[in-house]
Amino acid sequence: MQTTQNFFSVGFELILRDLPIPYDLYINSSALAQREKFVRIFPLGGLLSNEDLKEFKKKYHQLYVHESQRDSYLRSLAKNDLLDDVEKTKVIKDSAIHYLNGLFSPDKEYTTEILAESIDGCRESVESMIDVLEDYDISKVQKLIADLSFHDFYTYDHSINVSMYCISLYKAWKPKAPRNEIVMAGLGGLLHDLGKIKIPTAIINNPGKLSDEDFLVIKKHPGYGNSLIQESHCACEGVDFEVIRRIVYEHHENFNGTGYPQGLEGVDIHELARVTAIADFFDAITTKRSYHEALKVEDALAVMARSVGKKIDPELFEIFSENVNKLKFLGKTNRELPVDFDPCQPHDVLPFQAVKAEVKRNDLFAKEQADFGKVKTQDKSKKKNKKKAA
Ligand SMILES: [Fe+2]
Ligand SMILES: [Fe+2]
Repeated sequence: MQTTQNFFSVGFELILRDLPIPYDLYINSSALAQREKFVRIFPLGGLLSNEDLKEFKKKYHQLYVHESQRDSYLRSLAKNDLLDDVEKTKVIKDSAIHYLNGLFSPDKEYTTEILAESIDGCRESVESMIDVLEDYDISKVQKLIADLSFHDFYTYDHSINVSMYCISLYKAWKPKAPRNEIVMAGLGGLLHDLGKIKIPTAIINNPGKLSDEDFLVIKKHPGYGNSLIQESHCACEGVDFEVIRRIVYEHHENFNGTGYPQGLEGVDIHELARVTAIADFFDAITTKRSYHEALKVEDALAVMARSVGKKIDPELFEIFSENVNKLKFLGKTNRELPVDFDPCQPHDVLPFQAVKAEVKRNDLFAKEQADFGKVKTQDKSKKKNKKKAA
C-alpha cells in the first residue's frame, strides 16, 4: 500500500464485491507526479461486481482511497470472503507499518498531534486485526505470522506479531472480555517498544552481541516510552493512555522482581504488561528471521517453561501453553535463556545457557512452581528480616 499525500493505493482484488463499499474510490488523473489530481470514480455505498472491477482494471492503472476512509477500508477487508486471512493480514500489517513508520521516523519532532494521529491509526489497524483473528488460537496466529513476509526494521514485524499474540492470549484468558479491552491488549502489544523511537537505529537493528554500553542504552526504552506518553498528553477516542503507558513502561519487568526499570514484582506489574511479556518472549524465539533460526513451538514452550515464575507469570503461561494447540509441556529441553534475555532485540544466535540439573519433564511445571514458591517465601522472609532490622 503506497501512500501519496492524502490518498493511498489499493489493490483491485482487495475491494469488496456485491456489498455496499464503505469508502469512495479515486483515480489519479494527472500524469505528473508533482501535480497529482485525484478524481472520484465510484461513490461510497455503491455495489461493485466482479465484472465491474475487471473493467476498472482495464481502464485504470491504480485505484486510491482517501486517508480519512482508511479505517472503513481496513474494516471491510474482514468481510471480503474472496480473500484468505494471509492476504487480509498483509494489508493490515502494511497499514500498521505505515502508522508505526510515522512514529519511528528518525529526526522527527514528536508533537502531541503526530503521536495522537499515529496512535489512532495503530488503533484502527488493531481493530481490523481483531476482526481477522476472531477464531484464532495462538498456534493459528503463529502459523499466520510464519506466512507473512518481514520488514527490514525488526521492531515493525516484532511489534505487529506481539500485538497479534496479545489479542489471542487476552481472549484465551478472558473469553468474555469486552471489545475495548481486547483493543487495549492489541494496541499495548503494538506500541510496547514505543520508547525505541529515541534509541539509535544502529543499536536497535544490531543482531550481534551488544556491548554493555549499548545494552544500557537499550534498557532505557521503557523509560523513554513512559516519558513520551506522559509528556504528550495524547487523547484518542477509545484509548486509555494510562494503560498504554503502563504496558510500555512495565513490559521488561520480570515476575520475580528482577526486571527493569522499576523491579516490580508479580501482580504489581500491570496485567497487560504481563501478557505482553509472554507474547514478546514467544515471538522472539519462534519467528524465523534472517538473524536466527526459529524454535519449534514445542521447544519454545519448553524454553519458556524454564522462565515461569522468574520472567513470566505462571498463571498466564499456563493459559498460553494450553491454548497453543494443547502442547502443554510436551516439549523437553535442557536449554534455557538467561533472565536478562531481551526479546525486543534481534539476536543472531539465541543466547542459550545449559541447565545445571535435568528435570523430569512431567515434573517440570511442578518444579517451576515450587521454585517460584521458594523465591516468594525467601523474598517475604527477607522483607520481614529487613523490617525487623529497621
Ligand atoms: Fe518487544
Ligand atoms: Fe522492549
